[in-house]
Amino acid sequence: MKTRTLLYALLVLTFSCNDDKKAEPTTPKYVEELHSYAKPNASVIKHLDLNIDVDFDKQIIDGVASYTIENNNATEIVLDAKFLNIASVEADGQNTEFELGAFDEQLGQALTIKISEDTKTVAVHYQTTSKTEALQWLNPQQTADKTHPFLFTQGQAILTRSWIPIQDSPQIRITYNATVKVPSELMAVMSAQNPKQKTADGVYKFTMKQPISPYLMALAVGDLEYKAVSQRTGVYAEKSMIDKAHSEFSDMEKMVVAAENLYGAYDWEQFDVIVLPPSFPFGGMENPRLTFATPTVIAGDKSLTSLIAHELAHSWSGNLVTNATWNDFWLNEGFTVYFEVRIMEALYGKDRANMIALIGRQDLEEEVEGFKDEPEMTKLKLDLSDKNPDDGMNSIAYDKGYLFLRTLEETVGREKFDAFLKGYFKTNAFSTVTTEGFIDYLNTNLLEPNSIDFNVNEWVYESGVPENQAKIVSDKFNNAERILNEFIANKAVDVSKTKDWTTQEWVYFIRNFPETITTEDLERFDKAFNFTNSSNSHIAMVWYEQAINHDYHGNNVDQNIEDFLIRVGRRWYVSTLFKAYKRNDKVDEALAIYKKSRPNYHSVTANTIDEMLGYNE
Ligand code: BES
Ligand code: ZN
Repeated sequence: MKTRTLLYALLVLTFSCNDDKKAEPTTPKYVEELHSYAKPNASVIKHLDLNIDVDFDKQIIDGVASYTIENNNATEIVLDAKFLNIASVEADGQNTEFELGAFDEQLGQALTIKISEDTKTVAVHYQTTSKTEALQWLNPQQTADKTHPFLFTQGQAILTRSWIPIQDSPQIRITYNATVKVPSELMAVMSAQNPKQKTADGVYKFTMKQPISPYLMALAVGDLEYKAVSQRTGVYAEKSMIDKAHSEFSDMEKMVVAAENLYGAYDWEQFDVIVLPPSFPFGGMENPRLTFATPTVIAGDKSLTSLIAHELAHSWSGNLVTNATWNDFWLNEGFTVYFEVRIMEALYGKDRANMIALIGRQDLEEEVEGFKDEPEMTKLKLDLSDKNPDDGMNSIAYDKGYLFLRTLEETVGREKFDAFLKGYFKTNAFSTVTTEGFIDYLNTNLLEPNSIDFNVNEWVYESGVPENQAKIVSDKFNNAERILNEFIANKAVDVSKTKDWTTQEWVYFIRNFPETITTEDLERFDKAFNFTNSSNSHIAMVWYEQAINHDYHGNNVDQNIEDFLIRVGRRWYVSTLFKAYKRNDKVDEALAIYKKSRPNYHSVTANTIDEMLGYNE
């Protein structure tokens, strides 16, 4: 790849030397991209007009994607497409030739469209198919209110091409307008300016005037209501969820204020959250102006709302300053975890922030251990050639990325680090950054001016976690561990010692059971704290993991685990539990559950578990 870039640079240099009149830029604007067929340096999309019909009976989206393009004298433009039926293509309103290339399991197909040097627009008439991976069509039973169907999309990392033909690389930014027709009893919302009420005819019009990367295109359709938290924040949910969502997320405005105080103005005007049905494959997805969220964060006591801080933080790290390629994914997630923890600290204090950071620290430990045979996967900068970008989406990017930034902060001091980050977001707003670009910026703007020697390359390009890592300490967690050991040693539980505990302390307590814990200990804990029936999804999930690890079958826990896995499609939860079955040689048990739960999963969750359990449909 490097040789090719060098050759290209030489070529450009030769040309510009030969032609004195034209001083052309010497480097191509877009870097090489492993996960898209697009050739944006030749011809690139700038704006999308999307006009689609959402057909719940046939479970397809049908319509036209029209692009305004910027053409560098090319005679073709290449889009990405996957599992789409392309009916016809126009260039400036005239039918034109197109070709769909060979199908690749990860990337889909190149859609090559013939254009002329002065073509300004191309329009693709298309339909999604039953294989389209971005979409999950839900029947009424899979929703909260159980009366209407639901549809949502998930674009990250490379799934947008499976519901819209597009140049699907994070480096490419587009503005968009959309007209979406849905059944009149439903409401449509997008990662754009949104309606607050249903229309009579089921037609919705959207505009996204800030340029966004294609993975952030998003649509949800359902029987939705809106409730404002403040003028610029609020929640969408089904009727039976709207009040719960509203009170759980009542600190949204405060979070936006805290974030702005840290790293500069919120650039997207509105910050809303939509609570989706429980099969949504992520905790949250930072679709601009409208974060998509799992209902499993609604615990009733705001204890899991760091997720909202996380998705909000992506409005800077990710949506405003975007990883150039998926190899640079840590720039999105590592910065976002750092920012999330800072927002939580600003709102709720250092104790809470450090507990969140330490839970991540433990995730990182487990992830590094899990990759002991593939140490190169523990580098921040990845090489995902021939891999699905999803393979890089694990705790390394999040928690090693976080630890790197926290260690930097502690080395240079918070004041300097905050000023640096604020400048970084401002300088790179609405553009993309490579890992190398970030390191340059870091050296020039923080390390060199302050004469600080820091092992940046070791953190970024080497596996494992460097020695000079920030030490994160939590008195609350140390106390929880002490009490856990006391309960085990005494063979008795004293509930008065845990009465003020937060969710994070419970999670820590449960995750840190010693290997030697007995069934009697687990029974005793369950009797005292009823973990098996916890309404807090995170506590329930880590308890179920321990039940699987330690062969605990009391309190009807097996039934609860099965129900949980059938209802919830959040990939992190689901994969943690199936991984536990696998680790403990219980693949048959896992498969028996998976056969029932798989129909409720979005393709990203199903793909992960298929591979983990060696499941073939
Ligand atoms: N952008 C991610 C979700 C994602 C990552 C989707 C990679 C597709 C590919 C989102 O911001 C995220 O990180 N979600 C986390 C929550 C978080 C609090 C760590 C999740 O879903 O658990
Ligand atoms: Zn994230």
